[in-house]
Amino acid sequence: MSLFLSIEGGDGAGKSTQAGLLMTRLKAAGVDALLAHEPGGTAFGEQVRRLVKGAAPRSPMSELFLFEAARAQLVRDVIRPALDAGRVVVTDRYADSSVAYQGYGRGLDLDEVRALNRAATGGLTPDATVLLEIAPERALARVDGSDGAGGRADDPDQARFEREPLEFHRRVADGFRALASEEPERWFVVDASASPDRVAEKVWAIVSHLLEIRGMGGHA
Ligand code: TYD
Repeated sequence: MSLFLSIEGGDGAGKSTQAGLLMTRLKAAGVDALLAHEPGGTAFGEQVRRLVKGAAPRSPMSELFLFEAARAQLVRDVIRPALDAGRVVVTDRYADSSVAYQGYGRGLDLDEVRALNRAATGGLTPDATVLLEIAPERALARVDGSDGAGGRADDPDQARFEREPLEFHRRVADGFRALASEEPERWFVVDASASPDRVAEKVWAIVSHLLEIRGMGGHA
């Protein structure tokens, strides 16, 4: 028995923080879990990450292919083997990010994005997806530090998406919401504007329930 979870949301929603907190709880519960993140997670994927986050102009379709290339490698080398070994896999972003960003955000045909997702993943879909939902205005203030909390101070040459206009981030947020309502049995929407600890509690309630259903509850 394995469990494949993805965490999705816009820039600054707190996905990486929540993925880390979830891993800590999984380990404390004695659950054998692996954390992956996109884009990246393999040597090849980390190179792709620098390319996609960099400033070089590219068409939406070229950008999509880059994400798919990194994803194909990650699924083959990391995610698939871990699931085959019966582990829990948590991934910080996955194929739904391409539908939200390159589809809803950049305007690519949604069915084309989905077709490339299927090709890259071999059809591997998460058992459950947590959407960390927060208004883009608020999330972006976190990213650039204008909320007073100290921002991410990203290398400006590696902040391609954070620098997109608010409108872009609104389309992405609408996209995630649409995806969640199309497949309510897979998606769990969590209000990410609360404190990290409160958000983590909600995420844990969802994940521990899924583990229980599968008889993978560890010793929690
Ligand atoms: P990253 O620093 O990982 O952002 P975050 O911490 O917010 O996840 O940079 C990844 C960026 O790439 C992020 O802005 C979202 C974007 N992205 C896409 O546009 N499409 C995709 O398929 C994926 C996986 C990410």
